[in-house]
Amino acid sequence: MGFRKGTAVWVEDKSNVWVEAEVIQSTDKSVSVLTKYGKKITTTNEKLMPRDADGDHGGVDDMTKLIYLNEPGVLFNLAQRYSLNEIYTYTGSILIALNPFTNLPHLYNTHMMEQYKGMQLGELSPHVFAIAEASYRAMMHDRRSQSVLVSGESGAGKTETTKLLMQYLTFVGGRVAGDFRSVEQQVLESNPLLEAFGNARTVRNDNSSRFGKFVEIQFDRTGRISGAAIRTYLLERSRVVQIVDPERNYHCFYQLCASGKDAEKYKLDNPRNFHYLNQSKTYEIQGISSSESYLKTRRAMDIVGITLTDQEAIFRTLAAILHLGNIEFSPGKEHDSSIIKDEKANFHLQMAADLFMVDVNVLFTTLTSRTIQTPEGSIMLALDCLAAVAGRDALAKTVYARLFDWLVENINKSIGQDPDCRFQIGVLDIYGFECFKNNRYLHYNFASYLSYTSTNRDMLDIRI
Ligand SMILES: Nc1ncnc2c1ncn2[C@@H]1O[C@H](COP(=O)(O)OP(=O)(O)OP(=O)(O)O)[C@@H](O)[C@H]1O
Ligand SMILES: [Mg+2]
Repeated sequence: MGFRKGTAVWVEDKSNVWVEAEVIQSTDKSVSVLTKYGKKITTTNEKLMPRDADGDHGGVDDMTKLIYLNEPGVLFNLAQRYSLNEIYTYTGSILIALNPFTNLPHLYNTHMMEQYKGMQLGELSPHVFAIAEASYRAMMHDRRSQSVLVSGESGAGKTETTKLLMQYLTFVGGRVAGDFRSVEQQVLESNPLLEAFGNARTVRNDNSSRFGKFVEIQFDRTGRISGAAIRTYLLERSRVVQIVDPERNYHCFYQLCASGKDAEKYKLDNPRNFHYLNQSKTYEIQGISSSESYLKTRRAMDIVGITLTDQEAIFRTLAAILHLGNIEFSPGKEHDSSIIKDEKANFHLQMAADLFMVDVNVLFTTLTSRTIQTPEGSIMLALDCLAAVAGRDALAKTVYARLFDWLVENINKSIGQDPDCRFQIGVLDIYGFECFKNNRYLHYNFASYLSYTSTNRDMLDIRI
């Protein structure tokens, strides 16, 4: 279809992506338009999109109401609403959320949750609570489990949105308000706990989730929360041993280093002294105190129900990983063998062994040699320094990944799953991806997600 003279259009633009324009001349082969900045552009029909010149300046709260549901129309509508502090917009039953990058407490208080309770989707302004309410209502009405999928690029606000969904669901399905160890409190406190061990500062997000999370909140026949299960997958293991400026390792390491007495107990001090932390010169996150975060993590552990003995074991293991990273090697007398580099490295070897509760000689042999099986029996081969470092890092990564899985398992045990649960609402906070032409990771994630969600489940969607 050709554009006639006088038609309002969008034209592609290098700096603004799309710019408003009007057709001033049109032939079979080309179209000339005048942009709102007074620039004349001659292009082809395919490079133009129709524009609604009479659109409301405040934008529309549901994009299905747009006369032209095309890319520039959608982007312009979202931008208009964002400039009026309206961060939520529907496209039918999908909620689009834009990151406000500022605290909006008035949007998420109890009063707001009460407003959305019992409301149909679309009755009030678009809101993440409306999506949570819709899933809860659909579950109660249709007696079917529901899923909410939260997707978007890194830093878009998926994890914050997931927490708000959980906040609302624990509000409508909660039992006793303010109960310190209620299931809903435990479910909510599992968030800061998992974030301490699975989130890190990246270039794109100070609190980037480096794992995927699927939370199932279970309900009894009356709609009260009766249990929960958290599944995590694909933790980024390499971050434990390798980071680049200005990124950081997992938050928990910095928290432990800033924990005062506990840090002293494990002979930890400034993060600058540990190889796994000092490969990047970023140690702090603006506006966040590591020592206060440590106390929050401990409190979350208390609420979730991790025993003091287990808490102790968790931090001891973290400390052991940091000491492990400081074990340096130098070439041994024999060809391709290695020994501990110096007194300092020896101290860290001893500390790591003590904290892992293993014999120091066993740890040394494990790090500096490898056993291979032959038909004649097993043979021990010495490792050169590079191989010893690789083995050391592999051990650190594996221990950390196991610790993370163990933590999730413990959280699940402690919160408890309801064997008689009637139905559940699953919320998926899918890992932040970068935009690549081919993203195998994305496919993998969706495959994992689909295998988690049963077919007997309706789905709501949030795009950020
Ligand atoms: N609704 C919101 N209100 C206020 N701030 C928000 C909101 N959503 C996101 N933010 C801000 O944006 C930051 C990044 O959001 P979030 O961690 O949820 O991103 P993400 O999509 O989970 O990213 P990643 O994929 O890296 O984990 C938050 O730490 C917070 O500062
Ligand atoms: Mg996240």
